Amino acid sequence: MKPSRSLLLLLLLLTLFTSPSLSRPAPPSLLRLPIDRPRSSARRDCESWRFTVETNDAGPWKQVPGECEAYVEAYLAGERYAADSRAVAEASLAFASGESGRAGTVGGSDAWVFDVDETLLSNLPFYAENGYGAEIFNETSFNEWVDVARAPALQSSLWLYQELQNLGITIILLTGRSEFQRNATEQNMLFAGYRSWERLILRQDSDMGKSAVVYKSERRAELVLEGYRILGNSGDQWSDLLGFAVAKRSFKLPNPMYYIA
Ligand SMILES: *[C@@H]1O[C@H](CO)[C@@H](O)[C@H](O)[C@H]1NC(C)=O
Ligand SMILES: *[C@@H]1O[C@H](CO)[C@@H](O)[C@H](O)[C@H]1NC(C)=O
Repeated sequence: MKPSRSLLLLLLLLTLFTSPSLSRPAPPSLLRLPIDRPRSSARRDCESWRFTVETNDAGPWKQVPGECEAYVEAYLAGERYAADSRAVAEASLAFASGESGRAGTVGGSDAWVFDVDETLLSNLPFYAENGYGAEIFNETSFNEWVDVARAPALQSSLWLYQELQNLGITIILLTGRSEFQRNATEQNMLFAGYRSWERLILRQDSDMGKSAVVYKSERRAELVLEGYRILGNSGDQWSDLLGFAVAKRSFKLPNPMYYIA
């Protein structure tokens, strides 16, 4: 019996679709096994490094890996850093506005705690001269930069700061800078456009040697004892936000340049 025309056609089609030159490549798997990880792309690795840093998955780290210096520079100097910071500020204000609406009014005892460096002020001009975190931190030269008091505002943080003030929220500044830097810090805050904070808390002699997370938690606990309700807390370091007497909501700003425990 002769094979029918349709059977011949089917066989022809099968040959066409199974021939390697004509079959389409399989779509890339979304879930790659470790062995499939692309190793050629240094950029992709640095993005993942930044993810682990921002989420605190990386834990303590000393400096930006050398191969990621250019990536970190591009991130900070390009649009990405500003866009990420803006998104954090918008989320912060959405929360604060919601609280304000829910409670009817937000009173003067409702406080928002801001860190200073890489939160309200940007030290990018300093870090640009120092490898964007790829060089070991030089405290002497950073303190010289602090004394100049010309760090610009992180624009989205200045916007958030003013919007929170419009809601009637009390602004508290809690920084790892030391008491001897009070004047320079105040000068710099004014230079950058910040006004009317309630208090600027700096490290005292008795705080030397304490980790940032302990020092900042202790100061927040004092605020709570005074009767403040800490609505929100903004910081570029997890040590600004974790510990005890934490805010109702904490907001982590991006910072792939350095880690403070
Ligand atoms: C740190 O900076 C100071 C002042 O700029 C400089 O004199 C000193 O050599 C630097 N130290 C190191 C280890 O680079
Ligand atoms: C603070 O800085 C201002 C301006 O730089 C200066 O005039 C003033 O003397 C400083 N005050 C202290 C206590 O250092």
